[in-house]
Amino acid sequence: MSTFKAPKGTYDLIPPYSATYLAVRDAISAPLRASGYGYIETPGFEDVDLFARGVGESTDIVTKEMYTLTTKGGANLALRPEGTASVLRAALEANMHKAGGLPVKLWYSGSYYRYERPQKGRYRHFSQVGAEAIGAEDPALDAELIILADQAYRTLGLSNFRILLNSLGDKQCRPVYREALQGFLRGLDLDEETVRRIEINPLRVLDDKRAEVQKQLVGAPMLRDYLCDDCKAYHEEVRELIGAAGVAFEDDEKLVRGLDYYTRTTFEFVHDGLGSQSAVGGGGRYDGLSEMIGGPALPSVGWALGVDRTVLALQAEGIELDIPAPTSVFAVALGEEARKVLFGKVTELRKEGIAADFSYGAKGLKSHMKNANRSGARFTLVAGERDLAEGVVQLKDMESGEQEAVALEQVTERLRAKLG
Ligand code: HAM
Repeated sequence: MSTFKAPKGTYDLIPPYSATYLAVRDAISAPLRASGYGYIETPGFEDVDLFARGVGESTDIVTKEMYTLTTKGGANLALRPEGTASVLRAALEANMHKAGGLPVKLWYSGSYYRYERPQKGRYRHFSQVGAEAIGAEDPALDAELIILADQAYRTLGLSNFRILLNSLGDKQCRPVYREALQGFLRGLDLDEETVRRIEINPLRVLDDKRAEVQKQLVGAPMLRDYLCDDCKAYHEEVRELIGAAGVAFEDDEKLVRGLDYYTRTTFEFVHDGLGSQSAVGGGGRYDGLSEMIGGPALPSVGWALGVDRTVLALQAEGIELDIPAPTSVFAVALGEEARKVLFGKVTELRKEGIAADFSYGAKGLKSHMKNANRSGARFTLVAGERDLAEGVVQLKDMESGEQEAVALEQVTERLRAKLG
């Protein structure tokens, strides 16, 4: 072990475990790639003000959880705590909203950073796969995203998750509700920090997990009763479309989310096997975000699914993904001449698209075969001086144990046939 360890709240992904992460990212992005979403990658850090304005000055993410730094040149940057503000910034900067038709549909996958108190499922470095559909106000788009996330989880084999759905209203009706809620909350007996929160972000108070707070919230005005007709109709259509797709959801009028940019549709995917960090993914509509960061009006919707928590969810349900062995053929050379010949064969197989590896550094047949077993390869090629003298190698099927001598120049063909 070295003197150094992974920083607090982080962990390394190492083989063979890391293969599950790749498979999860792949399974989440596959339905997006097949539905018109193009891949976007943005920097790991941004101007700190992008998040302050975008995610919101009153959120925990901005006030407590950002990793900020000042560069030698004096720029104030933050490691990205989420992807939506960055992706919208990038789309606006590239004028994607002017280039073609709307919506601009994008997907991404990467690392995010939040200075949170670490616990199971909550890390300071974590990974998300996300999707954003920029520039269209259409309930079918909200529904599409929810359906695609559901499809991703179903293909992974997950079933013990629920979709919570809510509408947060728009700039017409939410301010009216906000004021009504503030009026109610100001009359309660709350601690200093919560009293402050009433003035900055009253909806978050509804989300307070403490029983003594929840008790007082009985009878609080509910946003549902304040939604304007447009928001109501919009939400009703989203619900209908999701329902018609056979995707089950629960209405959760207390679902607020920890980012300020949401309007109308909001949702969260929660998994019931994860304990307190149960949100495996979340998202919603953010019709005002573009204007908040200096762009034109571009109503948009998106989500991000947490890769770390999705992997935990798989574990909780006892699901092992069917990940094929990375290596199909493993070559074992006995003797100097055989080394040269088989190394050449391995290079040839690789060029032909057959995943092959070579036994390096081992001494003696036993330790070579240990390497072969460890590789998980279905076939081994073994050759010694005597095989070479006969112009053959021994091709062994590691599953059945069967072995046959194959002429050197027929190895590739034979393997291709066997591997199908
Ligand atoms: P979020 O709900 O903050 O939304 O994060 C989405 C998911 O990322 C969470 O449900 C969770 O699975 C994962 N996640 C968040 N924080 C952590 C952490 N500290 N450790 C492990 N996993 C974590 C967003 O980030 C929005 N940008 C989603 C969105 C996209 N809304 C619209 N478009």
